Amino acid sequence: MARPLPELLAQLDDFLAQTLSQIRSAESLDALETVRAESVGRTRGALNDFKRSLADVPGPDKPAFGARFNAVKTELEGALEERRIALAASKPARATLDLSMPARREWRGAKHPVTLVMEEVESIFRDLGFTIATGPEAEHEWYNFGALNFPPDHPAMDMHDTLYLEGGGLLRTHTSPVQIRTLQSYPPPIRIIAPGNAFRRDFFDASHAPMFAQIEGMAVDEGISFVDLKATLAHFANRFFGETATRFRPSFFPFTEPSAEMDVACRICGGSGCATCKQTGWVEILGCGMMHPAVLEAAGVDAERYSGWAFGMGPGRIALQRFGIPDIRIEYDSDIAFLEQFAQ
Ligand code: PHE
Repeated sequence: MARPLPELLAQLDDFLAQTLSQIRSAESLDALETVRAESVGRTRGALNDFKRSLADVPGPDKPAFGARFNAVKTELEGALEERRIALAASKPARATLDLSMPARREWRGAKHPVTLVMEEVESIFRDLGFTIATGPEAEHEWYNFGALNFPPDHPAMDMHDTLYLEGGGLLRTHTSPVQIRTLQSYPPPIRIIAPGNAFRRDFFDASHAPMFAQIEGMAVDEGISFVDLKATLAHFANRFFGETATRFRPSFFPFTEPSAEMDVACRICGGSGCATCKQTGWVEILGCGMMHPAVLEAAGVDAERYSGWAFGMGPGRIALQRFGIPDIRIEYDSDIAFLEQFAQ
């Protein structure tokens, strides 16, 4: 049955106006979807009915109706999309995403303060032509004591009590055995430093730990004297701590003769006296001395021709001074709040 074009066009306009107002008043994406399905939707959409009525339009009017139909469809689709974007932008889910919240900080890890000290000591001695040497932590008694001129049952061994292993080995009480191992392997001239761990039956207190790092140093050549020892170690102290006073106090080690301990002016109080330096103004940083001829001979070096000096320092104690750490036990705590202060 033919229907007059003006009537159909009027219906199409009414439908357009009505649907546009529904689109504008849709308050949610779900409500908008219902409007879409019932207007331009392929299955339920009212626009389909208009499409079907094209068959009833008289032949000459078809193009005019077709053009209007397409225009209405385009306008509705545009309005639907516009409203969809507006509703999506004001979705409540967006409001709960707080983009101003700070991101989680990246954890980068840090070198332990004792490692930092060891690396710095190593680099200073490298500049002086020293090589890094190492030796085992589980050591033979002979390397730890005998070759280093400890007479059997000498009282000096009281300070070096350690864990003895089955078969005569022990956990080395100092890095000095590396002196012997190096001299057995390489002929003089030799300049080495030997970083590593040492073990002693020491109580855990503010300045002692039963397991601790040491750095051994040794120079062996013809004509080496105490002058070389003092000059090298004073140079080291000035480079490591900055311009600083040093002093050498006489001491005793079975493997050096003469022996000394080197102090630097306390960095914490500047030399006026505090708890860390036990009110003396000085802090001991290493033991040293001229290598005893018996040690050179034990390692197979001709002590008539060669002489040498050696030192042993504790980087854990030096780190206390360097970083103003009040108690050595903190270095063993694995406390992240402490360690992360050294992240570079
Ligand atoms: N080995 C000594 C100690 O651990 C330190 C030292 C090394 C002293 C070399 C003199 C020479 O106490």
